[in-house]
Amino acid sequence: MYNNLQAIVLAAGKSSRFISRQSKLIEKICGQEMILYITKLLEKMKIDTTLVIGHKREVIESLVKAHHNNEINFAFQEEQKGTGHAVLCSREFWKKDHILILNGDVPLITEQIINSLFQKHLQNNAVISFVIAHNIDPQMKSYGRVVQNGNSIKIIEAKDETEERKEDFCINAGIYLINKNFLEIAINELYESKVTKELYITDLIEIANIKNQKIETFSVDFDFIRGINTLQELWAVEQIKRAEIIKYWMDCGIRFSTAQNNHIDLNVTIGSGTSIGSGVQIYKNSKIGNNCVIESFSVIDGSIIEDDVVIKSHTLIENSTVKNNCVIGSFTHIHSGSSVDSNSIISNFVEVKKSDIGSGVKIKHLTYIGDSEIGNNVNIGAGTVTCNYNGFKKEKTIIQEDAFIGSNNSLVAPVVIGKGAYTAAGSVITSDVPENSMAIARTEQINKKDYAQVIREKFNDASTLLSMTGAISSSPVILSEVRSTESKDD
Ligand code: UD1
Ligand code: MG
Repeated sequence: MYNNLQAIVLAAGKSSRFISRQSKLIEKICGQEMILYITKLLEKMKIDTTLVIGHKREVIESLVKAHHNNEINFAFQEEQKGTGHAVLCSREFWKKDHILILNGDVPLITEQIINSLFQKHLQNNAVISFVIAHNIDPQMKSYGRVVQNGNSIKIIEAKDETEERKEDFCINAGIYLINKNFLEIAINELYESKVTKELYITDLIEIANIKNQKIETFSVDFDFIRGINTLQELWAVEQIKRAEIIKYWMDCGIRFSTAQNNHIDLNVTIGSGTSIGSGVQIYKNSKIGNNCVIESFSVIDGSIIEDDVVIKSHTLIENSTVKNNCVIGSFTHIHSGSSVDSNSIISNFVEVKKSDIGSGVKIKHLTYIGDSEIGNNVNIGAGTVTCNYNGFKKEKTIIQEDAFIGSNNSLVAPVVIGKGAYTAAGSVITSDVPENSMAIARTEQINKKDYAQVIREKFNDASTLLSMTGAISSSPVILSEVRSTESKDD
């Protein structure tokens, strides 16, 4: 369909209005780099593409190559001397009859716009056709203005404007279709702007007009062709994309309780019947199953959450898998490389790192599980810590199925707690516990009969003494007094 059409994408600019050292074209919009919106669209439309790169060329080139199996050509603009000069730098790649030239910073452009521009261009036998939009915001300063006067038409760049904008707020979108034969001649006729000393692609319009050549415009909704020159414009475009993604998932049966403050990346998928709470953010290639509940302020990053999972508020799950019917959170952090099998509960203030948790496991309070394998139906008591790091090396903790770990245990890795074993509360487990055994590793309790009264008396004496000498009464002083008396009496 597009056999006689090729595309040139301009991506060599310095991004100076971003006030950042990297190219704006690799800034992400809903998880995908800006430049890939255009290159992927052209790939989908099967249009041969050449990218003009210059500023930060290595970064852009390797990003694009990583996503396109090398079928994109690269032209090089060594010095950034304007959009017209960038087109000139791609000259050796001009092969087809019609050349689509696009700015790299217009990521919301659609297949339908490119196709309609091409059809109109062909039907009207134009030498140059370009996309326009209308925007009445007088602050809209970063666009070239399309000025038509009788038979004359030209684009005046915002930077070069000498007169106030009138009521015509027709702007140039930065998307052009040009006949190769015309381009080959007209490109040599571009002249430097007096203000910026750059060559502007936009001057091709005036050149065509002076040569009495057919020029066509194609008008679209401004939102589709928003260019991104500043961080504010990036924010505005991302808001549009984000709303588009969320509306799509609403149509697939997903309930967003406060859609205006949710963020869902482009490549995320969500199953129907799932409900997403306020402030939830879902990043990268996360896959959320059917009928899940993701409560407020949780973040799911690059993770797979299967069906019927409840993720309670303020939970962070990174690059991990959670299988069916689990309850995770609130305030749970599951770090990269972890998996949680079905029907498990991992709740309040529990941190899991690089660990595999079996099914039916309960880890409900204030626990750290690192570099561990936890078998099915294990119960881990409150305050348990796997001591996985000795300052040099990470070691593994293995807790086999049906084991029961008492509260406030320290499991010093490497260690294996056998199938069905028990550990007593407060234990420091330093060696393996055999299957079905019970391990107690804590000092024996001593009860001193009536000793509470002795402590009270000492406590009263100490505070009286302190108030008589005018010293400020403070509990650490009194307690140390009590402790020294206690050791003397022992
Ligand atoms: C450009 C248009 C303006 C239009 C607007 C739409 C020109 C002179 N102006 O302005 O009429 O309304 O886009 O968004 O074309 N680039 C290069 N080499 C360079 C300079 C730029 O490759 O030497 C690339 C940039 O990386 C960018 C694209 O060309 O992807 C457009 O450049 P930019 O500086 O954003 O132009 P605008 O000022 O937005
Ligand atoms: Mg721009």
